[in-house]
Amino acid sequence: MCGIVGYIGAQDATPIILNGLRRLEYRGYDSAGLAVIQNGQIEVRREVGKLGRLAARINETPVRGNTGIGHTRWATHGEPSTRNAHPHVGMTGEVVVVHNGIVENYLELRQELTAEGAKFNSDTDTEVIVHLVERYLSGETGLVEAARKALQQIKGAHGIVLLSSREPDKIVAARIGNAGGVVIGFGEGEMFVASDMPAILEHTRKVAFLESRQMAVITRQGAEVQTLAGKPAAYTVHTVAWDPIAAEKGEYRHFMLKEIHEQVRSLTDTIAGRVDFESGRIRLPDLKLTTEQARAISKITITACGTAGHAGMVGKVLIERLARIPVEVDIASEFRYRDPLVDHNTVVLAISQSGETADTLAAMEEARQKGARLWSIVNAIGSQAMRIADGFISMQTGPEIGVASTKAFTAPLVDLYMLAVLLADLRGTIDEKTRRQAIADLSRIPSLVGTCLEREGEVKEVARALKNVQHCLYLGRGVNMPIAYEGALKLKEISYIHAEGYPAGEMKHGPIALIDRDMPVIVLAPRDPWYDKMLSQIEQAKSRGGMVIAVACDGDEKIAGLADYTLSIPETPWMLSPVTTVIPLQLLAYHIAALRGLDVDQPRNLAKSVTVE
Ligand code: AGP
Repeated sequence: MCGIVGYIGAQDATPIILNGLRRLEYRGYDSAGLAVIQNGQIEVRREVGKLGRLAARINETPVRGNTGIGHTRWATHGEPSTRNAHPHVGMTGEVVVVHNGIVENYLELRQELTAEGAKFNSDTDTEVIVHLVERYLSGETGLVEAARKALQQIKGAHGIVLLSSREPDKIVAARIGNAGGVVIGFGEGEMFVASDMPAILEHTRKVAFLESRQMAVITRQGAEVQTLAGKPAAYTVHTVAWDPIAAEKGEYRHFMLKEIHEQVRSLTDTIAGRVDFESGRIRLPDLKLTTEQARAISKITITACGTAGHAGMVGKVLIERLARIPVEVDIASEFRYRDPLVDHNTVVLAISQSGETADTLAAMEEARQKGARLWSIVNAIGSQAMRIADGFISMQTGPEIGVASTKAFTAPLVDLYMLAVLLADLRGTIDEKTRRQAIADLSRIPSLVGTCLEREGEVKEVARALKNVQHCLYLGRGVNMPIAYEGALKLKEISYIHAEGYPAGEMKHGPIALIDRDMPVIVLAPRDPWYDKMLSQIEQAKSRGGMVIAVACDGDEKIAGLADYTLSIPETPWMLSPVTTVIPLQLLAYHIAALRGLDVDQPRNLAKSVTVE
């Protein structure tokens, strides 16, 4: 989780930025840096590792000034190192930028800029932004216009803050998509900007939030917000509660809604540092997996509970399809007592957000005793499921507070996708073209999810229609069958409405008897290999008088003509479609529960981590 802090005012920016970054440390990072305008020049200090190293570096070579920006980084492109740490300066040394997100089209921009003579000093995608600004900056084009032109060139979802020694009286900030908030803090004769409110709350409680595709020009006197197209945009200054919990929720009523909207950033972060976009390869070093070991795997058993188990069901489809390894998915509370058939050629892969779920840990111990290689996909750093495994993949989503898991569901979907690509690469079951396409598809996911989140209005309309139903049926097939299970679980656990996820193909074997006007049917019908089957499923449900809510791709007139409601998602490569099809279902469960006035973040009878049997 990258963190951003900026300051402009009468005080020394350096300590304000450092302290602000410290308040964002819990989000995790692998390097840090800051840039301050000192005596008319941009001075940069960057260090790999923790903020303590950066602070020590600044003690050795102090930097002072009234305008500055700072950053803590999860490496996405380019390994964690000082040269890849933000901020990044261009060739003139007059412009500097910090950035959250992935520049999806950075390869072509880097080639274009290099051909124009730009010299790159890092392996990061971020650096293309500062070279683009320099391309447009000139006598008649000032920083704001140059930044606007640059930001219109980059694809993906971003939070960006930049400044220039040519115009030291301003900071420019921008938000594109949902890669992470950009919050502006209003002081007396001084202003702040950050990726998250805790970084600036000690200085001010008056804040405003940038919307997607908005830019802010921030001076000591205040902020002027405009769209990326240059139109002035109104904004509201909120006075936030001092209470840190409320601060952490930011602009959201519940943690769950915040975490749903955080998924662009959390997916960016779970991809962070694991994709070499140049070579088109996946790197999962914490798995400690050699080619020989990968080739010796005879079976993978995925074991988990609840939502994590649904992620495992998606993983089965991906790993079998790409790496051609047989995969079983076993509920942990069953696996642990089944005397399972595992041996030294079996990998048992546990998935757990908390890393402390009793049944999952017991399943891991059972696997260990039977000689299996133990992997885990875990969110909580340092948790047991991470420590006892032979190798692990960290979800890197940052803390998930809402009991109903959202970002810690989509992150393992992407982690399992990367694992499937890695295993296929090591076992030689996919060619380079397929592998590079898989990587290209992956880099689009954060902004595809951002597009889904922008459709929240459609979901609210359906939530109003469903808020008083007693039952709900979720149907899916193939890679999206587990999403039917997950959508139903989300609704059950926070709205207390009885809901059932079902393999769509099974309907004719009994459950179709359930369908009538009082049984809304939510059907997952993205353009994946099972689309035609789902289309006929919708027709069957409609012919029995059912109310159908379809999750379908943009422009699908057929389904829009059939279903009572359509929740649209952007076309997504089918192996990654569970990441987008689940978003409207997360939002639907949330809004129904909120309309029912329930305690969304702490539903009755539930705990965030079930550490007992
Ligand atoms: C998710 O919405 C539920 N709260 C629950 O099913 C959860 O996924 C399950 O308890 C597993 O938790 P874990 O991922 O921390 O192991």
